Amino acid sequence: MSYVIGIDSSTTATKAQLVDEVGKVVAVASSGYSYDTPQPLWSEQDPELWWQATKEAIAAVLADSGVPGSAVKAIGLTGQMHGLVLLDEHGEVLRPSILWNDQRTAAECNEIRERIGKHRLIRITGNDALTGFTAPKILWVRNNEPAVFARAAHVLLPKDYVRYRLTAEYALDRAGGAGTILFDLAARTWSEDILNALDLDPGLFPPTFEGHETTGLVTAAAAAATGLVAGTPVVAGAGDQGANGIAVGAIDPGVVGLSLGTSGVVFTATSEPAIEPAGRLHAFCHGVAGRWHFMGVMLSAAGSFRWFRDALAPGNDFAALARATGQIAAGSDGLLFLPYLTGERTPHPDPLARGGFIGLTVRHSRDHLARAVLEGVSFGLRDSFELIRNAGSADLTEVRASGGGTRSPEWRQILADVLNTDVRTVATAEGAAQGAALLAAIGAGWFTDAAAASAEWLRLDPPTSPGSDAAIYDELYTGYRTLYPALQDTMHLLSSLETP
Ligand code: XUL
Repeated sequence: MSYVIGIDSSTTATKAQLVDEVGKVVAVASSGYSYDTPQPLWSEQDPELWWQATKEAIAAVLADSGVPGSAVKAIGLTGQMHGLVLLDEHGEVLRPSILWNDQRTAAECNEIRERIGKHRLIRITGNDALTGFTAPKILWVRNNEPAVFARAAHVLLPKDYVRYRLTAEYALDRAGGAGTILFDLAARTWSEDILNALDLDPGLFPPTFEGHETTGLVTAAAAAATGLVAGTPVVAGAGDQGANGIAVGAIDPGVVGLSLGTSGVVFTATSEPAIEPAGRLHAFCHGVAGRWHFMGVMLSAAGSFRWFRDALAPGNDFAALARATGQIAAGSDGLLFLPYLTGERTPHPDPLARGGFIGLTVRHSRDHLARAVLEGVSFGLRDSFELIRNAGSADLTEVRASGGGTRSPEWRQILADVLNTDVRTVATAEGAAQGAALLAAIGAGWFTDAAAASAEWLRLDPPTSPGSDAAIYDELYTGYRTLYPALQDTMHLLSSLETP
């Protein structure tokens, strides 16, 4: 039997997933770490953490399964997107990585819009400048740490630092690359126009590859550190969202990948470099060659339910709290929840957006609040769903859901009702790592393309279909949509009163 490994360097852990030729997950291992917030709005991580955790996770899947390194035919990489890794000419890390959830770059986002023009920026890259993306982070270092920037010789994303340690090659996948907003979306590589307008040296940026293409071979040193065999190919892989899209089979237009983790993501493939003209949706290259994708990102999805549990029902488990919401009627007896607990990205790119309950009365119990949270998060996801429906050319036929939140049948039903679409969960433990493993399997020559691989590997659960509550939610959603615009000024005022 032959195997591939998918490696996901996420914000909180690096996970390795060992998969055999028929798509069976033979072993999964995870090695955790934390990130630093040295100042309000900042979020940083030492790249060395990813490499240490990668070594541990690879060694663990090999040891747990008893599979020898020589049976591993290819490695696929994925990970948190947008993070900035700066290396000097010797490949030494120059400063901690500035992560996707760092919000320090508002001034640099304005600088980018001024230098390029917002509409031109969206036309070329598919996206407006958001604080999370990589380009404003590069400008922030140039503006604030000129001595560091002067020594920078290589710009990488987190997953590509792991690649560098495995293969000693500087390379970058195109799905992740588009998330820098330095890409020409249609050309699927660095945009000369954008680099020129931002006065960035093209020599800083590595060559780019499609997800299944080999970017290098495991070095002897990396083989000794991991238990892999020197010469094992490492394919480009994809950013975690592109990789998760592959894992849930969102490869052709019409299938929507919905991931309900701490953040919530609504994702659909496009067969051309389509953009949402106002830049409210992210438009990136897919991890699949010849495909692009739209994506809406909600920052606090299952994270909102976690907040609810920790703040209002400590010690309770999520399943029991979600089950109790089944006793409450749709609409939570007139209660709406706004899920902007950590600001928002789609459809309101506003770090200072804030959450809330609207409609509270003395009759509302803790279970009403819990149901309102599940419903409010679902309405927020519908915002992205509607944007995708309006921007795309394909009918949205099915939602494929993954992530911790979808384990609750009550939440799955609310989602099906709010989105008014069938929702099917995908039996995948680690979506992104699975997608990276699938790209490795194509690289190893097991499949001709992602659609063929997905047809073999994808395991779908039976659908949850919308019921009679869909009509109630349609009406409530109209009210939900009025709240952010009406409350935006108050949210900003309130956020100015928060202690740093
Ligand atoms: C995607 C994004 C997040 C990170 C988290 O645009 O910012 O999903 O990739 O891992």
